[in-house]
Amino acid sequence: MPKAKKYTEKFKNFNLIIFGGTGDLAYRKIYPAIYQRFIDGQLTCNYNIIAITRKENHQDIFNKEMESFLSQNVKESNISKNEISLFMKNVHLIRAKEASAEGYKDLKSFLAKFKAYQNIFYFSTPSSAFGPISKALKVSRLVNSESKVVIEKPLGHNLESSISINDDIIETFSESQIYRIDHYLGKETVQNLMVLRFANNLFERAWDSEHIDSIQITVAESLGVEKRAGYYDQSGALLDMVQNHLLQLLCLVAMEPPMALKATEVRNEKLKVLRSLRPFTKDSIRTESIKGQYTRGNIEGQKVNSYLEDIEKYESKTETFVAIKTYVDNWRWKNVPFYLRTGKRMKKRYSEIVINFKQVKHNIFPSKEKMNNNKLIIRLQPEERIELIQMTKIPGPGGYRYKPIALKLDYVDSFEERFPGAYERLIIDVIRGNQTLFMSQDELVAAWTWIETITSNWKNTNTKNVLYEAGSWGPGDGVLMKDESWVTKTWKKK
Ligand code: BG6
Repeated sequence: MPKAKKYTEKFKNFNLIIFGGTGDLAYRKIYPAIYQRFIDGQLTCNYNIIAITRKENHQDIFNKEMESFLSQNVKESNISKNEISLFMKNVHLIRAKEASAEGYKDLKSFLAKFKAYQNIFYFSTPSSAFGPISKALKVSRLVNSESKVVIEKPLGHNLESSISINDDIIETFSESQIYRIDHYLGKETVQNLMVLRFANNLFERAWDSEHIDSIQITVAESLGVEKRAGYYDQSGALLDMVQNHLLQLLCLVAMEPPMALKATEVRNEKLKVLRSLRPFTKDSIRTESIKGQYTRGNIEGQKVNSYLEDIEKYESKTETFVAIKTYVDNWRWKNVPFYLRTGKRMKKRYSEIVINFKQVKHNIFPSKEKMNNNKLIIRLQPEERIELIQMTKIPGPGGYRYKPIALKLDYVDSFEERFPGAYERLIIDVIRGNQTLFMSQDELVAAWTWIETITSNWKNTNTKNVLYEAGSWGPGDGVLMKDESWVTKTWKKK
């Protein structure tokens, strides 16, 4: 076991109450994240983790399941039976059959016994339950001004439903108490985007339409829909990935420097970007968006099913791939295309942001070789790496010959420490009361407003999915994934 660190920051005591406490998200993400912070020695205050379940509560079965999930989801070297049993001393299972004052009786008496500075309610349930749970908490008088609520996407399926979910929650919790998780914001490499941009004068000087030709944001997954067919078929790639993760990445790349690292400042800058996104029209949807669905194929030598087989349906219009070309209509980004693309069952898992700089203004070299433009490649996963592609002279006589060479910074080589997972960082920030890495309701409304220009125009133009083979790079032999000259020139003509 690694030695616990010495943390000087002392948290205020808390009770973390997880609704959906025996669900998949809780077992796979929430408990492993808290356990990891416990192992690292960061939970120095008094606290309780309370798992709320609607089923019969059997603490023994729960403990066993927890042990098995922790072993699967935490690094092997950080797992020990002894530490798990110490951790479990603070984890309690409580039954609440329904969302009502009567249903929350046991929770209420627990919280009366274990008074803490703050009660943090984590809704790890379908969003349809957010309203009823909030209401029942209010009626049970379990919420005060120090309480917080953590919610997860999908926050609705369109603008209207998302506003209605918020309206329900806001009856009980104020905006400053609501923590909307987008786990991409908790990733170390995503946070590093802020440091890369705002702690390096070099890049910021060239971060605009004068110097940048285009920006690509790609999140490719080799996974399919796993056990979430029901949810995914209602959402599709656009709502599952673009509406939140890809737009948040775009915001961090495109926003103006915030005045300070405070939540309001950062969120306001992101909001301006979201509000500047060019809405889609009936015309632009045809030339600047593509959606696709995977058919059977092969991934790393393994045969995999088609999407329809995965969801066990004969028919579905849901897209598992989307590629979009969009613009941020403001002073800094005038006419710079942003390419957003994401897909399931791609050849490999990788997420990256590529900043394509413009060519030099005038080429003084007589060489016939192509002069490539500079590229800054920010690889977010699976490896965390930054590469700067720059032209370099090929040594030796024979005039100036050159070729593109990458200057590489491998995160893992530069830092010995383990990178904390996204949920670790985010949960700790909730305990601290720091909302910087969480979305505001205004951001959500702006994101949905723009997304609806896509969904409504897809509907109006009856845009259909293009099929692509699982294990490929998506529609059109993957041209959308590798070529920034992209849709209009290459793909749409096929
Ligand atoms: C989730 C989506 O929000 O993000 C999933 O619902 C997707 O469909 C996942 O697989 C990707 O997250 P990560 O951290 O694995 O890139």
